[in-house]
Amino acid sequence: MTMVMDDVVAREARHVLQTYRRQPVTFVRGEGVRLFDSDGREYLDLLSGIGVAALGHGHPALTRAVAEQAGTLIHTSNLFYHPLQGEVAERLAQLSGLPRAFFCNSGTEAVEACLKFARRYWYTKGEPRREFVALDESFHGRTFGSLSVTSDEHYRTPFEPLLPSVTFVKTNDAAALTRAVSNQSAAIIAEPVIGEGGIKPLTPAFAAAIAEACARTGALYIADEVQSGLGRTGHPFYFQALGLQPHLVAVGKALGGGVPVGAALVSQQVADTISFGDHGTTYGGNLLACRAALCVLTELMDGGLAEQIRRVGRHFEQRVRAIGAAHPSLVSEVRGTGLMWGLELTRDAAAVVPAGLERGVVVNRTAESVVRLLPPLVITEPDVDVALARVDAALGAVGAL
Ligand SMILES: Cc1ncc(COP(=O)(O)O)c(C=O)c1O
Repeated sequence: MTMVMDDVVAREARHVLQTYRRQPVTFVRGEGVRLFDSDGREYLDLLSGIGVAALGHGHPALTRAVAEQAGTLIHTSNLFYHPLQGEVAERLAQLSGLPRAFFCNSGTEAVEACLKFARRYWYTKGEPRREFVALDESFHGRTFGSLSVTSDEHYRTPFEPLLPSVTFVKTNDAAALTRAVSNQSAAIIAEPVIGEGGIKPLTPAFAAAIAEACARTGALYIADEVQSGLGRTGHPFYFQALGLQPHLVAVGKALGGGVPVGAALVSQQVADTISFGDHGTTYGGNLLACRAALCVLTELMDGGLAEQIRRVGRHFEQRVRAIGAAHPSLVSEVRGTGLMWGLELTRDAAAVVPAGLERGVVVNRTAESVVRLLPPLVITEPDVDVALARVDAALGAVGAL
């Protein structure tokens, strides 16, 4: 380890609450899909800060927009109008088909807002419903509401009691979902592509069961697109690929390209039941966040990025499936869509992360046995080839252990 690393690690060990087990790398600079550490070593980024740096690092338009906005006006609070929030909401409405947005600062806050709006909907209708139906491999965030609909016992148990009346059903078990949703269900919440749970797209049959259960009981559907949304899957949102019509959509991560911003997108039917003062936040949708979001959405919608993601996504799929097939005793399944991929290993995937870093590629482990790949959405075919060759080499090294 270098001096810089030693200093950084020692100071953090003294003063930063130890909630993260970090990899021993200090990134100091980025350029496109490349990251550079404090020793000047270069890495190809197949994680993009967990699906956040959609435009890569140091993107010229985003850099200019953020710098210019920072020099003009950063924040005024939601007590006043500013010119950008409506513009971002309008763009999100065009992309999602949901006409209204509530802005917040993170994915978990977007989910919290969706859960609250679902309760508010039933309260306003005069028939309060408390219950939520969620999936057994879900991850929706760490605040109390989001944690209550997140299934992993490791995250939940130390913080109980959480919200009561959440029923978890097996992912993609349509019959179980149908049994769980009743006239008491306020909402079903599900990620259209399960992210932290191991990159698992919902099946069309399961999506049909969600639509049927909502139609039968009136329950709302909350699509958590925090990880899968905004082009990553090759669709603006993956609920569209599944033919679903959510009443609420949680968005975060990629929306600000690295500037923290989230949003709950709301159907008119739900919006009609929300009143002034029902929910709020100091920072949510401030000028800096909205300027960044507008830049990301403009690249996605007007800059040809959506078409590029579909094209590069097809190439990525071919390469990542070939790599999976080349390691048959280590890789049991390759799952994903667009630029959102997971390699399910036959063992814990933790060793692949340092093996990747040694070879100059950033990947992540999730759900213990899955190597997760969430490259910046701007990645091109040649960089995919180099990055995945490094993943291939890392898998080879781990397989030989
Ligand atoms: C699907 C999903 N929902 C919610 C969240 C929580 O987002 P945040 O970490 O920004 O609070 C995440 C984060 O990984 C996520 O993947």
